[in-house]
Amino acid sequence: MQVNKNVILLTGGTSGIGKALLKRFMSLENTVIVSSSNQKNLDALQGEYPDIKTIQCDLGDPASLQNLIDRVHFEYQDLNLLINNAGIQYNDNWLTTDDSIPSHIEREVRVNLISPLQLAYGLLPILKDQPNAAIINISSGLAFVPKKSAPVYCGTKAGLHLSTKALRYQLENSNIKVFEVIPPLVDTPMTTGRGQGKITPEQLVDEFMEGFRKDRYEISIGKTKWLRLIQRISPKFADGMLKNA
Ligand SMILES: NC(=O)c1ccc[n+]([C@@H]2O[C@H](COP(=O)([O-])OP(=O)(O)OC[C@H]3O[C@@H](n4cnc5c(N)ncnc54)[C@H](OP(=O)(O)O)[C@@H]3O)[C@@H](O)[C@H]2O)c1
Repeated sequence: MQVNKNVILLTGGTSGIGKALLKRFMSLENTVIVSSSNQKNLDALQGEYPDIKTIQCDLGDPASLQNLIDRVHFEYQDLNLLINNAGIQYNDNWLTTDDSIPSHIEREVRVNLISPLQLAYGLLPILKDQPNAAIINISSGLAFVPKKSAPVYCGTKAGLHLSTKALRYQLENSNIKVFEVIPPLVDTPMTTGRGQGKITPEQLVDEFMEGFRKDRYEISIGKTKWLRLIQRISPKFADGMLKNA
């Protein structure tokens, strides 16, 4: 894929990996429309990058998601890249009695799995009209080997991994390429106070860009290459590595 002169919708571009992707794509002469749930975060980002476009959208809310799809149809008919990056992770202990857990389950599935897929489907009519188009989904190493503290998150990322692959099959004879980025632990607000050996968001973006340029559709970043290899050779060993991560 070409890395410049794209018109990109980037979800979750206000923080962490999304913000590093934004910085890189802005340095390469792209038009980037950033979406996040928080208007204040979008306003602050606009202060840093005056040329970006922004659309507020809570991906946990179906009406807000539909509004995002409608606005892109109306305002950006030249969109050719969708980056489904936004994500959340709750670390709930299901053995405690906590009334918020059922709503957490729904929200996490909506933000991490349902919305990226509905966004891809909803924007397909625009993407189909472009000579070079792509959908880029950000999953996780936890799609392959789960950890105890995040049962819903791991399930959503496993679902996103398989959906991405199946969608790639559906679109293989079209103009739309379907990419998956599989990050290891990255140093972002999502992982504050958690884990060791994190890579920086910029290191992730360097590896992603190399794979994206070369049309490598499944881009395993850093240690996730090893994780997937170990998982194939000894699933039990891989499980033990991440169970309490
Ligand atoms: N960090 C890691 O180690 C790691 C590893 C593997 C995969 N990933 C994946 O990489 C992606 C980015 O993660 P990150 O670490 O960069 O996280 P982050 O720093 O917490 O950023 C998450 C982004 O998603 C947006 N967001 C959160 N809830 C949203 C909602 N309901 N609607 C719309 N936007 C929402 C946030 O913006 P607002 O708060 O302004 O809405 C923010 O821009 C996620 O899909 C994550 O699962 C991360």
